[in-house]
Amino acid sequence: MVRSTHSGSRSNTRKIAGFALWLAVLATPALLTPAMAQLPDGEGKTETETICKQCHELERSISIRQDRAGWQTTMDKMAALGAQGTQKQFDLVVDYLAAHFAADEVPRIKVNQARAIELESGLSLPRSQAAAIVEYREKHGAFHSIEDLKKVPGVDAAKIEAKKDRMAF
Ligand code: HEC
Repeated sequence: MVRSTHSGSRSNTRKIAGFALWLAVLATPALLTPAMAQLPDGEGKTETETICKQCHELERSISIRQDRAGWQTTMDKMAALGAQGTQKQFDLVVDYLAAHFAADEVPRIKVNQARAIELESGLSLPRSQAAAIVEYREKHGAFHSIEDLKKVPGVDAAKIEAKKDRMAF
């Protein structure tokens, strides 16, 4: 009697474990799929949504921030790759992207607070240079200007110069 109850509860446990596993399997794709990009409302939203997910995810389309000229260049590039739409729709898309995904919406990298990973991705620096900047900062204190930053041994001054508009001290 006792024995059968025992084995019964064990098989229940197994069933529950099996069910949990099954749930986990079902839930996994949902967890791995990035949430659908939500575009802010505005004129050109529908066109952007339609045209900019014809070939890749909408997320990719809005993964960068740039000014109007930059978005025009991207639009031309995508059109050359085969994006389908009328000229009027393309113009609406450029207006929309320039208004909602403008370059100045990206916060600058705070050179004196940023972690190495932020310097690396935000300023497109090689990992070793990002690490060198952090190490130098820890030893010598805050940077006051881009010239200070260029003094860090191993850092490519040209790369720093190229990204100066992306930095805050
Ligand atoms: C005809 C297919 C197609 C359509 C439609 C399309 N793209 Fe692309 N897109 C591509 C391809 C292919 C790449 C990869 C190109 C590369 O890596 O050089 C890409 C890459 C990108 C990138 C990554 C950066 C870059 O410049 O390579 C961005 C941003 C982008 N697309 C934005 C958009 C936007 C915004 C739209 C809507 C206007 C759009 N795409 C519509 C094909 C398309």
